[in-house]
Amino acid sequence: MFDWVKLLTLIITSLFFMNSVFASERKFNLGKIALKKEVAGWDIDVRPDGKGAPIGKGNAIKGEEIYAEVCASCHGDFGEGIDRWPELVGGHDSLDTHDPIKTTGSYWPYASTIYDYIYRAMPFGAAQSLSHDETYQIVAYLLYMNEIIEEDFELTEKNIGKIKMPNRNGFLLPDPRPDVKIINGKPCMKNCTVPLKIIGKARDIDVTPEENKS
Ligand code: HEC
Repeated sequence: MFDWVKLLTLIITSLFFMNSVFASERKFNLGKIALKKEVAGWDIDVRPDGKGAPIGKGNAIKGEEIYAEVCASCHGDFGEGIDRWPELVGGHDSLDTHDPIKTTGSYWPYASTIYDYIYRAMPFGAAQSLSHDETYQIVAYLLYMNEIIEEDFELTEKNIGKIKMPNRNGFLLPDPRPDVKIINGKPCMKNCTVPLKIIGKARDIDVTPEENKS
């Protein structure tokens, strides 16, 4: 005969087991566990070294078209900025002057950050409407207009972290704190006291002036 009791016990124990698995992820039983797809929708940051850059590619030739269509109305055909919208091109060698012009070319330290920002926030009013390829194309166009890459350079997820931006090192000022020891350009965080070695004593090497010497 079919053992109903065994089956029931099995169902109940597995329910308990599933509950404890999920309960550990949702400690207070609130909300719901985010789906992988939902997490992916939020997880769009691209780091300075290019980590997180989505698969895609684009060059400035293609970028010029799409830029003219969706960006130029505010930022100008050549990134010069219309009215008071921000300029995106030029300003090289202006950063240490009285009127610095901070653009993606003169100021921004990483090309990957330009990608991150544009994909995340532009065009103003229609954020995140660009595809990955369109974003690569536009970033390539901005880099080309800033004379950082050639017109036919194919910008991809693999090389975006390696583009050398003119102001790449402009953010790394020497640490101004007098008590911070700098080792290889970085502030030392632990084991910073260099052990002192006494190599001689004033008494031994006889530098103490004698009294009453005239
Ligand atoms: C409706 C006008 C408008 C359009 C269209 C537009 N932007 Fe912008 N953009 C802005 C404004 C306003 C800001 C400043 C936003 C802020 O500081 O919060 C900005 C800022 C930027 C910046 C940062 C500038 C800086 O150095 O701080 C970049 C890069 C940029 N836009 C690129 C683009 C690109 C690429 C497009 C096309 C895909 C685009 N924008 C379309 C208005 C616009």
